[in-house]
Amino acid sequence: MRINMLFIVALSFLVSVRSLPKKPTLKYESIFNFGDSLSDTGNFLISLGGYIPNIGRPPYGQTFFNRSTGRCSNGRLIIDFIAEASGLPYLPPYLQSARTNNSVDFKRGANFAVVGATANEFNFFKTRGLSVTLLTNKTLDVQLDWFKNLKPSLCKTKPECEKYFRKSLFFVGEIGGNDYNYPLLAFRSFKNAMDLVPFVIDKIINVTSALIDEGAVTLMVPGNFPIGCMAGLLERFNDNNGWLYDSRNQCHKPLNSLAKLHNDKLNKGLQALRLKYPHAKIMYADYYSSAMQFFNSPAKYGFTGSVLKACCGGRDGKYNAKPNVRCGETGSITCKNPSTYANWDGMHLTEAAYRHIATGLISGRFTRSVYNNSNSHL
Ligand SMILES: *[C@@H]1O[C@H](CO)[C@@H](O)[C@H](O)[C@H]1NC(C)=O
Ligand SMILES: *[C@@H]1O[C@H](CO)[C@@H](O)[C@H](O)[C@H]1NC(C)=O
Ligand SMILES: *[C@@H]1O[C@H](CO)[C@@H](O)[C@H](O)[C@H]1NC(C)=O
Ligand SMILES: *[C@@H]1O[C@H](CO)[C@@H](O)[C@H](O)[C@H]1NC(C)=O
Ligand SMILES: *[C@@H]1O[C@H](CO)[C@@H](O)[C@H](O)[C@H]1NC(C)=O
Repeated sequence: MRINMLFIVALSFLVSVRSLPKKPTLKYESIFNFGDSLSDTGNFLISLGGYIPNIGRPPYGQTFFNRSTGRCSNGRLIIDFIAEASGLPYLPPYLQSARTNNSVDFKRGANFAVVGATANEFNFFKTRGLSVTLLTNKTLDVQLDWFKNLKPSLCKTKPECEKYFRKSLFFVGEIGGNDYNYPLLAFRSFKNAMDLVPFVIDKIINVTSALIDEGAVTLMVPGNFPIGCMAGLLERFNDNNGWLYDSRNQCHKPLNSLAKLHNDKLNKGLQALRLKYPHAKIMYADYYSSAMQFFNSPAKYGFTGSVLKACCGGRDGKYNAKPNVRCGETGSITCKNPSTYANWDGMHLTEAAYRHIATGLISGRFTRSVYNNSNSHL
């Protein structure tokens, strides 16, 4: 009898908890995102005007959306999990408005990120003798202009905008990773990429401060991933010299030090911004350390597949990420259980990896206030 009562009490408790409406963890009423393929929710695909590249085909999107949305993953991205935690719709891609006669409502957020986007523009690379072929010219400056174009439809007067943006979250990045990827994948020297770091950071800081001038008050600026653990770059830099690899995780050390240099300089830049805008809440998202958790201890976090191999791609390289067969193209193979892989297609991570990183942001564990370097909740 007593046991039964307990059981009933426990059961009704469970039922009542489950039937409560899900309360959003984060309190934002709108989110605006800038970046590249790590957070594009469809702009690049739309920008191609009907041409369908590999990322617009299965198996992209198979795990969650059941179709290829233009996201470079099998499912949701970090920004999708942030939107969910805020009780907001997935961020509509800005370019969707042109396609649907301005019928998209961006009041609860907009995504300006574009696959392949760089912080710097075409001529920046050209004048440095790095003639790289960019996938897109929708740079961070272009994305900032898109935001400025959209702004009058969000709020009109200064007080109205102040009130509106007080409840908005601005995600500036990850961006800049492609500024290094293009030269690296085009077999330019490692030093060429390292030399770009200060210019990439200047651009990110410049646009972040322009956004604050436009009214943003809460900003999250993520750093770069440990790119030395990305299958596509591991394949490109594949080398027999064991000393180039971290013995703990087999990631490529020089590539990871490039990401660390970028992240250190980004932090310094953000600290300087803080002095310029004492009223703004500027946070840094430590994607590097969050991802390093599962690259260092894959099994602990459920990544029981080969953590450095791409789930989707060709099978003739060491990391399933040779550029001859890309995910979504003929000859590409998809692993059986993507949720046990971290690398999705060589240059992007799986939904499972993105979920891990998003959880680390939402909990505050991998977000820091640039004011005092202590943990700061989103
Ligand atoms: C994808 O398909 C599954 C199974 O049919 C369904 O449960 C799920 O809701 C679909 N996801 C979306 C985002 O439509
Ligand atoms: C957009 O407007 C044009 C011209 O009015 C019309 O032909 C087209 O069907 C509309 N497209 C959509 C998606 O509503
Ligand atoms: C980007 O701009 C450059 C210079 O104007 C141009 O040559 C190139 O074709 C453009 N790339 C794309 C993908 O539009
Ligand atoms: C960003 O850089 C441009 C060009 O160098 C400059 O004109 C502008 O004032 C800068 N904006 C901010 C907010 O620093
Ligand atoms: C660090 O700064 C943030 C933002 O101003 C503040 O909320 C937090 O309490 C500070 N933490 C410490 C340990 O000073």
